[in-house]
Amino acid sequence: MFDHTVHIPDERVIILDFGSQYTQLIARRIRELNVYAEIMPHFISFDELKKEKPAALVLSGGPSSLYDKDSPKADHAIFSLGIPVLGICYGMYIIVDAFKGKSAGAISKEYGRAIIDIKQKSPLFTGLKKREQVWMSHGDKVISPPDEFEVIAASENAEISAIQNKKNKIYGVQFHPEVYHTVNGKRVLENFLFNICALKPTWNMKSFIESSVEAIKEQVKDGSVLLGLSGGVDSSVTAVLLQKSIGKQLYCVFVNNGVLRKDEASQVIDRFRRHMNLNLIYVDASNQFLKKLKGIINPEIKRRIIGREFIKVFIKEAQKIGKFDFLAQGTLYPDVIESVSTKGPSDTIKSHHNRVPEVLKLIKTGKVIEPLKELFKDEVRQLGKVMGMPEELLLRHPFPGPGLAIRIIGDVTRERIAILQEADDILLSEIKNAGLYNKLWQIFAVFLPVKSVGVMGDKRTYENVIAIRGVTSVDAMTADWAYLPEAVLRKISNRIINEVKGVNRVVFDISSKPPSTIEWE
Ligand code: XMP
Repeated sequence: MFDHTVHIPDERVIILDFGSQYTQLIARRIRELNVYAEIMPHFISFDELKKEKPAALVLSGGPSSLYDKDSPKADHAIFSLGIPVLGICYGMYIIVDAFKGKSAGAISKEYGRAIIDIKQKSPLFTGLKKREQVWMSHGDKVISPPDEFEVIAASENAEISAIQNKKNKIYGVQFHPEVYHTVNGKRVLENFLFNICALKPTWNMKSFIESSVEAIKEQVKDGSVLLGLSGGVDSSVTAVLLQKSIGKQLYCVFVNNGVLRKDEASQVIDRFRRHMNLNLIYVDASNQFLKKLKGIINPEIKRRIIGREFIKVFIKEAQKIGKFDFLAQGTLYPDVIESVSTKGPSDTIKSHHNRVPEVLKLIKTGKVIEPLKELFKDEVRQLGKVMGMPEELLLRHPFPGPGLAIRIIGDVTRERIAILQEADDILLSEIKNAGLYNKLWQIFAVFLPVKSVGVMGDKRTYENVIAIRGVTSVDAMTADWAYLPEAVLRKISNRIINEVKGVNRVVFDISSKPPSTIEWE
């Protein structure tokens, strides 16, 4: 199930996921401490887990009560691996259950900040004060610890907030050390990784690059690799890493679908072909895309058309070169874990959601190389930075695959694309000038198919409306509309109305997600 085609460090912590919203955060915090951590589903079998050879286990929290009928369980044999274990919240109940202690649904639940008292000296709490502020989020609580376990901390609500079995290096904490509100959470994780597990902090981007380059060379040998380059962060970093590994054996196809941002195609060509000497196949298929989009109003149909045409153009261009040995994709870790985490084997199929059978037909081995599939987005940016890629590219806001087509409400015409490109370009340059770009998750212009009356000089106008959508967010799941200083808004609106022919009104979107979405279509 866990196919590590590219890169596995020797020492790994495996996090068994019981469905907590913080599971990915645990992995990120551990990696920030330069130890490689990977997430696997709680239902992994003992044999499978053993094959993965983890150096330590972390059992995540989870939204369920252990006493729910279908609550996620783990194979108790995992405790016979003889490696250190840290159970967090729900993970602690799994330990308690496995070693025949007792927990129960608590009468008063504990959410948010809490204070724990450290009751007993523990290697997990080295360097902590007697009282510590932590982050709690639990409904159950431990009533009696298993034999051979000591209680090492208590909170007002839960007398048993942390337990240890020093001899077998098994620890459980009720609170969440991975959450920033646990003031010394990082220290707790450090204590676990370095004092208890005796791991070495050797995992970093430089070592990732070295081992990935080795692994890619080893896998590809003198074969050829095909990659679709969009100009976004993920595919660009994938391209650079692959080029570093196999040079001209990499072929990148970049398709202009006619709904890119202003000057985007020329920037991509310039960056990758001229400066990096990449094998870049550029195809301007704008006509083909725009013909198919003509008269299409429905956003989902727009998406489908763009997706389908992309595959057609990509395949046609690739075929001109011939057959390839491998396909490369810029899949990231969250895409992989989302599909295998807690949902069960039937859902794992989704991990290959972006495999297109027609494209795979061009690939002699049928194999896909995904060199970023163990990385989180911020790690991908860091990787790019270590490889010398410009920040301007690495910190780019997300741009949807269907591009400006879903930012032009209604019919997508050349005239509307040109208007939106100009307005968006002004917006972005003013936001960058004001030093706001990196503070926002996304900001962009939207073309509204609404004509309104204006007055310019002595003449009345009857022109289009541009909406500005700017949001702050951490993961795009929720987003707040972004507050922009009045002077910046004023400059943006003046410039768009004065400089973009066909626009006489600019409006600002003040809707949060949910209930609105970030994009308008
Ligand atoms: P929404 O509009 O759903 O967007 O709040 C969440 C994030 O996803 C991006 N987005 C897309 N990205 N293809 C993409 O590649 C799409 O069809 C698409 N639709 C939305 C959006 O820009 C935001 O970052």
